[in-house]
Amino acid sequence: MTVRRTLLAAALAAGAAGAALAQGAAGTPAVVPYVVEGDRIAQPLTDQPGDAARGRAIVASRQQGLCLLCHAAPIPEERFQGDLAPSLAGVGARYGAAQLRLRVVDPRHLNPSSFMPAFHSTTNASRVGGAWQGRPILTAQQVEDVVAWLATLR
Ligand code: HEC
Repeated sequence: MTVRRTLLAAALAAGAAGAALAQGAAGTPAVVPYVVEGDRIAQPLTDQPGDAARGRAIVASRQQGLCLLCHAAPIPEERFQGDLAPSLAGVGARYGAAQLRLRVVDPRHLNPSSFMPAFHSTTNASRVGGAWQGRPILTAQQVEDVVAWLATLR
């Protein structure tokens, strides 16, 4: 497990650096303020509703979401899915959108020692590559897109 974790951290760092390059000069996206109530963030992070098709693409992407490094998901065209975390199949039946939002934004609110990255936080120092220090892995809109797709998985 230790070896796998180390490999995982290296893969995350490499992927994160690649995605940061891909974003180019788009500017540094900010972390949007949010309120945690129990195990959820009730208020969407953006005014624009999430787009499930874009969210699926983010989850499938090896540069952006990297979700498939750890999770399996019903994305049949992607081979080599992860088995270090619960499958995302059916996750929309297990959790509502507000619960999914908190899990994607920052799972440390639920499990302080989670090794899932906090996708909308600037404090993932030990897990993401240097280019991503001080910036969230996913923008607020990307989080909403991912949540919209996860909510369809019933
Ligand atoms: C480095 C590994 C890793 C990556 C990458 C990762 N996760 Fe996770 N995820 C986990 C682990 C481990 C858990 C189990 C709960 C915990 O430990 O926090 C989890 C739990 C979850 C849960 C709750 C699932 C349940 O059934 O309880 C959701 C939803 C989720 N992750 C979504 C995502 C999405 C979406 C992405 C990509 C944007 C992602 N994860 C990327 C490791 C990861």
